[in-house]
Amino acid sequence: MRFQLWRRVRRRMRGVRLMRLAHRVGIGWREELAAGIVASLDKIDVLEVIAEEWLKGPDSRVRALRTLGRQRPVLLHGTGMGMAATAGVERERLERMARLMEKSGAESWSEHFAFVRAGGVEIGHLAAPPRNTSTVEATAENLELARRVTGRMAMMENISTLIDPPGSSMEEACWIAGVQRESGAELLLDLHNVHANAVNFGYDAAEFLGKLDWDLISTVHIAGGRMLPEGRVLDDHLHDVPVPVYELLREAGRRAVKPLTVILERDGNYPRMEELLEQIEQARRALT
Ligand SMILES: [Fe+2]
Repeated sequence: MRFQLWRRVRRRMRGVRLMRLAHRVGIGWREELAAGIVASLDKIDVLEVIAEEWLKGPDSRVRALRTLGRQRPVLLHGTGMGMAATAGVERERLERMARLMEKSGAESWSEHFAFVRAGGVEIGHLAAPPRNTSTVEATAENLELARRVTGRMAMMENISTLIDPPGSSMEEACWIAGVQRESGAELLLDLHNVHANAVNFGYDAAEFLGKLDWDLISTVHIAGGRMLPEGRVLDDHLHDVPVPVYELLREAGRRAVKPLTVILERDGNYPRMEELLEQIEQARRALT
């Protein structure tokens, strides 16, 4: 009798946990995919849009984004703030992001653990900062300013890099943990970036996941890159999600303490929509 009661309690607890961890899987909105995405919304839980593509358009474009947001939750993903820098993030950029947040009704916004300009020069890509206590403090200060201006703390994405940033005294997981401790920001966990860095710098990607604070992870990116001739992985988002990234997603599903929102990122060399939908489905299967 007591055993049956215990079994019922356990079943209910498992049900509560599964309900709590109702993961969502979606895709990054790209103009080239727009028609396919709109026609497939029943298979897509959530959409992520690149903020810079909407920051400067007329209000009618932002209204279209708001309309899209009524179909599926929209997440804003910024690439141009340069948060992980000892230089202060520009207030005007943050104010534009705040206005876009408000007008679009987006669910959240995110940026990268990267710098994108230095000494007045635009680098043109996401560069990994030196990982040391100075950049931990400066990044946390930038994040706090961003929170005050936008009213929301940004989620921050780990980036891939082909060079170990000069001037570093901390390993990546330790540096991320330091910024999170100072700022409270969530990590937007890009699993292809973890895979690429693990291959490029010779460490175990699953072990890296074990060093992260899973109380501060609710959003995940998956993508595909390519192997360079010298045996390093380039995160170009032009290829299908490779097997090791699905394996990491499985591991993420095991470690998650919050429901995960998984976004498939694809930036070119687009396959048929059915193939992208299959990758979304594969991600769903990895999480269950
Ligand atoms: Fe990403």
